[in-house]
Amino acid sequence: MALSITVASGKGGVGKTTISANLGVALAQFGKDVTILDADIEMANLEGMKTTLHQVLAGQAPPSEAMYVGPAGVKIIPAGVSLEGLRDADPDVLESVLEELMEQTEILILDSPAGLGKSAVTSLAVGQELLLITNPEISSMSDALKTKIVAKKLGAHVLGVVLNRAGTDATDLTIEEVQTILEATVVAAVPEDSEVRKSSAAGVPLVIKAPNSPAALAIKKLAADLIGEKYAPPVTEKNSFVKRFIGGLFGGR
Ligand SMILES: Nc1ncnc2c1ncn2[C@@H]1O[C@H](COP(=O)(O)OP(=O)(O)OP(=O)(O)O)[C@@H](O)[C@H]1O
Ligand SMILES: [Mg+2]
Repeated sequence: MALSITVASGKGGVGKTTISANLGVALAQFGKDVTILDADIEMANLEGMKTTLHQVLAGQAPPSEAMYVGPAGVKIIPAGVSLEGLRDADPDVLESVLEELMEQTEILILDSPAGLGKSAVTSLAVGQELLLITNPEISSMSDALKTKIVAKKLGAHVLGVVLNRAGTDATDLTIEEVQTILEATVVAAVPEDSEVRKSSAAGVPLVIKAPNSPAALAIKKLAADLIGEKYAPPVTEKNSFVKRFIGGLFGGR
């Protein structure tokens, strides 16, 4: 049985798609068989993606036909329309399709729509694990809390909170404050990072385009933690300079 993780938030625009896509690619880089549902992003080859979840739900294609291979071998299923746009889909059909997908992969990541509409609730109900994405601002908190409560009622286990775009402002909530308000552990703090936007513009996932950027490092660490792997960030420029310097002094390399 696959591990299914719903990446959800209360408020929109907090970084669900960014985290879903890059966490998926990072997990694939660790050798996991990962499927991402509707990371409607920068993944290569979008124009080649003719069959989508939309057709699958309409019974016009089997789920396997809507699966595309992306960076690092991650499998992507485009929704075709936004998941929100699938609100007319029969939730029973959606659930059985998702169950079928889970049989074909090790980790299924559901990039949930914001809020608590029908399709968001469906994805909260289907995912066993909830990763709650939030920004360090008061205005994100009450909706995030609502999402967490609904997910728990639906039987999801709260993996934790990802505090995204952390550390930019003096008015930012601290990790401790977020944990207190949401009554959940912050499992990753992903800093505000200009590389996120750059990689998005380049159409390449951040963890591939800028693997040593602060946000990519935080997401790779989260991926490692989720699957119980150790992740040692690469030596920084400064360290490697020191090493080279010492190596030079003592004749080593
Ligand atoms: N850590 C970060 N640093 C800088 N910019 C970021 C970061 N995370 C996300 N962004 C930017 O914030 C914007 C929203 O991110 P994203 O699309 O991932 O959010 P979302 O929660 O999926 O939005 P929606 O609710 O609309 O689906 C994007 O422009 C993205 O590039
Ligand atoms: Mg999104």
